[in-house]
Amino acid sequence: MKADQLRQKYIQFFVEKNHTQISGQSLIPENDPTVLFTTAGMHPLVPYILGEPHPGGSRLVDYQKCIRTGDIEAVGDPSHLTFFEMLGNWSLGDYFKDEAVRMSYEFLTSPRWLGLDPEKLSVTVFAGEEGISRDDYTADIWRSLGIPDERIYFLPREDNWWGPAGATGPCGPDSEMFIDTGREACGPDCIPGCSCGKYFEIWNDVFMQYRKTEQGTYEQMDRKCVDTGMGIERTIAILQGKQSVYETELFSGIIAAIEKLSGKHYGEDELTDVSIRIIADHLRTSVFILGDERGVVPSNLGQGYILRRLIRRAVRHSRKLDIHDFFLGDLSDYVIDQYCGPYPELEPNRGFVKAELKAEEEKFLKTLLKGEHEFEKMLPNLMKGKTRTIPGRLAFKLYDTYGFPLELTEELAAEHQFSVDREGFAKAFEKHQEASRAGAEKTFKGGLADNSEMTTALHTATHLLHQALRIVLGSHVGQKGSNITPDRLRFDFTHHDKMSGGEIQQVEDIVNEQIQRNLPVEMEMMSVEEAKEAGAIAFFESKYGEQVKVYSVGDFSKEVCGGPHVRNTSEMGTFKILKEQSSSAGVRRIKAVLER
Ligand code: SER
Repeated sequence: MKADQLRQKYIQFFVEKNHTQISGQSLIPENDPTVLFTTAGMHPLVPYILGEPHPGGSRLVDYQKCIRTGDIEAVGDPSHLTFFEMLGNWSLGDYFKDEAVRMSYEFLTSPRWLGLDPEKLSVTVFAGEEGISRDDYTADIWRSLGIPDERIYFLPREDNWWGPAGATGPCGPDSEMFIDTGREACGPDCIPGCSCGKYFEIWNDVFMQYRKTEQGTYEQMDRKCVDTGMGIERTIAILQGKQSVYETELFSGIIAAIEKLSGKHYGEDELTDVSIRIIADHLRTSVFILGDERGVVPSNLGQGYILRRLIRRAVRHSRKLDIHDFFLGDLSDYVIDQYCGPYPELEPNRGFVKAELKAEEEKFLKTLLKGEHEFEKMLPNLMKGKTRTIPGRLAFKLYDTYGFPLELTEELAAEHQFSVDREGFAKAFEKHQEASRAGAEKTFKGGLADNSEMTTALHTATHLLHQALRIVLGSHVGQKGSNITPDRLRFDFTHHDKMSGGEIQQVEDIVNEQIQRNLPVEMEMMSVEEAKEAGAIAFFESKYGEQVKVYSVGDFSKEVCGGPHVRNTSEMGTFKILKEQSSSAGVRRIKAVLER
C-alpha cells in the first residue's frame, strides 16, 4: 500500500464512522509562540480539545504535515525524520476509550482496511504514576479484542503519557500500537518502545482526560477527548515490508536523483547512506517549509533559522558525496511532484521554492570553504589545549563570519572528537545580538498554545488591528503572520512602505475607538462560501467545502478564525502600538500591547 492509498483509506474509514474530514493546517502555528512548527495533528486542535466548539462537529479526521526539530541531529539513521505526515481522528467530548480502541483495532487488522496480522500487534498502556492510576480499563479493551497479556505492556509516564512539556494544557494517558517486524530481539529486555528496530510504533491513541494547571496539578476535564496519531511514513514501511522509511516510494525519487548526481549507491556503504538520508530528509522538510501557506525564508531567527540549518546541513553532506553543483533546487521537483496532490499549496510555490533553495545554497557555498578552512586552521592550536572543547567565542566566530549554524560546528567538531562550549557560544551570541539569541533559544522549546486571558484579549486586538490597517492603508493589507504571548501581540502584514507616524496614530485611534464602543464579539459557523459572501477576511482558502468559524467584533470586523476571543471589547484595555518595522520584503511588522 502506497502513502496515497493509506491517506485515502484512513479518511474513508473514519468518515464511514461519522467523522468529518477537516483540512490539515499550516506548518507554522498561528498565534502560538511556544513552538516553531506544528508538531502533531492535535496541535492546531488544542483550543477545541479545551472546549471551543469545532465547526466540523465532535468527530473529526484529517492528515496533517508535521515537523519535529528536536531530532535534527538524529536524522541520518534509518528511522528518524524531521518532516512527517500524521493521520488522526478526534473525539471532542464524543466517544472515549472503548470506541477509540475498537476503531483502531478494526482499521489495523480488518482485511477491508490494513489487514495487519493481529498476532504481530503489541500494545502499551499507562502504568500509573503521580497519583494517576494504572489504565486497566484500556488494557481490558485490548484483551477483549483478543490481544493476550504477553503483548500488553504497562509503561510509565515517559512512554505512555501525552501532554505539554512543562506547560499547561490538555493531557492524559495513551496507548501505543506496535508491529513486530520479525527481527531478532536485541536482548531479553527488548519490548515495544526499544529502539533496536524489532518493534515499530505506528499509532497512538491519547485519552485527553486531564488538564495540567499552572500549579502543576492535574484536573479532570468534564469533556473528555480522544486524540490519535498514525505516522504515514512508518506505517507504509511496515505495510510494504520495508526495513526503513527511506526505502518507501516517498524517498525513492529523491534518492535515485542523489545517486545519479553523486555516482554513489544507497545501501552499499553506511557513511554514504547517512549522507543520502540527511540530504533526502532535509530537502523534503525544506520544501515543505518554503512551500507552506505561511512559507518562511532562511534567516537567523525562529523557523527561518531551522530552515537555514536544514539546507546548510544538506549541502555539507552533498559535498561528502562529491556533489559540487547547486542541486537542491532541481531535486525539489521530486518532492513537489510527489506531494502536490494532497498538499495543493506546493504547486503554486514551485518557482519560489527553487529560487530560495538555490539562493541559500549559493550563499552557503561561498562561505563554507572559507569556514572549513578556518576551522582546520584552528585545530592544531585547539589540540594543544587541555580539554577537547571548542571555546564558545570561536564557535560564534564561525557562526557570525561564515554562517556556520552552531550545530554544524558541533558536527565538524565531533568528526575530530571535539565538543563545543554551548554556554560560551550563547554568551557570545547574547553580547552580540539580543534579538537573534531569543530566536535561537526558541528553537529548543516545545509545548502547547497558551490560552490565558491576556493572550485571548490580544488575539481580539489583532482582529481590530487587521481591520484598522485595511481602513488606513488599504485593502491590500493581509495577514502574513501572527504571534501572541501574554505580554504583546506581533502582527505581520503585506504592505510596502514604512508607516508614517500619522498612520500609526490613526490605526491606534481606530482600534481604541472600537474598544471603547463595548462591542460584543460573536461567533457564527458557516461554509467557506458563505463566509466569503458575508465579507469575512479569510486568511487561507480551506481545502474542502467545509464549515468555518467566523468571528465578528460588532459591526467593525469579521474574520474567519478558530478563536478564542473575549466576549466584549470592554474586557480589553487600551491598545498601544510599540513598534512598526520591516519584517521581510513587502511585509511590515507591528508589535503592540494592551494596557489595562
Ligand atoms: N498527539 C499524539 C502524538 O503526536 C497523538 O496524535 O503522538
